[in-house]
Amino acid sequence: MKKDLLGLKDISASEIELILDTAAEMKKLFSKKGKKSNLLEGQTVSTLFFENSTRTRLSFETASNFLGAHFMAISASTSSVSKGETFIDTGKNLDAILIDAIVIRHPMGGAPHLLAKNVKASVINGGDGTSEHPTQALLDFLTMREKFSKIKGLKVVLCGDIKFSRVARSNIWGLLKLGAEVTVCAPYTLLPKGMEDFGVKVELNPAKAIANADVIMGLRIQSERQNMGVFPSVGEYAKFFSITEEVIKKAKAEKAIIMHPGPANRGVEMSGEVLDSKNSVVLEQVTNGVAVRMAVLKLLLEARARGVKS
Ligand code: CP
Repeated sequence: MKKDLLGLKDISASEIELILDTAAEMKKLFSKKGKKSNLLEGQTVSTLFFENSTRTRLSFETASNFLGAHFMAISASTSSVSKGETFIDTGKNLDAILIDAIVIRHPMGGAPHLLAKNVKASVINGGDGTSEHPTQALLDFLTMREKFSKIKGLKVVLCGDIKFSRVARSNIWGLLKLGAEVTVCAPYTLLPKGMEDFGVKVELNPAKAIANADVIMGLRIQSERQNMGVFPSVGEYAKFFSITEEVIKKAKAEKAIIMHPGPANRGVEMSGEVLDSKNSVVLEQVTNGVAVRMAVLKLLLEARARGVKS
């Protein structure tokens, strides 16, 4: 492992497997009574978030606490970024405060890469624009691996906003490296150009897309990133593309597990019944987020201590 985790595009299948194996060990650790370890005692982790978050921010905080690290959260609105300080100067100041790992979320793709070039701390991408959200995809893989024992050969269908989704990109990069078969389903206006070149199948009909699926993952319609009408109305999108129990029955996909990274728009990309169904693993994904973030912090900070660079 290197000292930073910026995306899954640039890491190998064996590095992904190492993170998942370590996360499985971390899960055993926090499932025990007491939960705490001192693996990262004396280290400081900070989130630096320029966008809102519930799951990612809180699970990094919980992961840091379980590992005995000190944790701090900085948001753009309460930091001196709001007074005009540059993003790089803020990062250099975090270095000067001797912070060991910075988890950054930013609306601009590439911001974590720029930060990593300018700081000594380990940098973890907590979501950058529409580019990547690597720890989300890793927790998705841990959940799939727990359910099916392996990822190679799994049929995974991503339904929803593919074009503006960083979760879609990290899942696609990682799943293809691990040998899964990936299908994406969305209206043409929510599919990036040249989607097939990624090595995924494209299917515009939800019932056809999910037939024989092992995993059905809903992806949020990201209205905050869409600066032009990509469908006439949310109601019309839901009528033709929402994954409902009726669509699942029609496709005979009742055995598939249901995933969603959250936050979910109930009744848009998936119905509330599907999100709450017995096959839904949405909250298991959130718990696995703590294990994955513990593993990532441990592995990166160990690499940094060995002097491994970005
Ligand atoms: N899945 C995810 O990144 O959720 P948050 O935006 O709440 O962190």
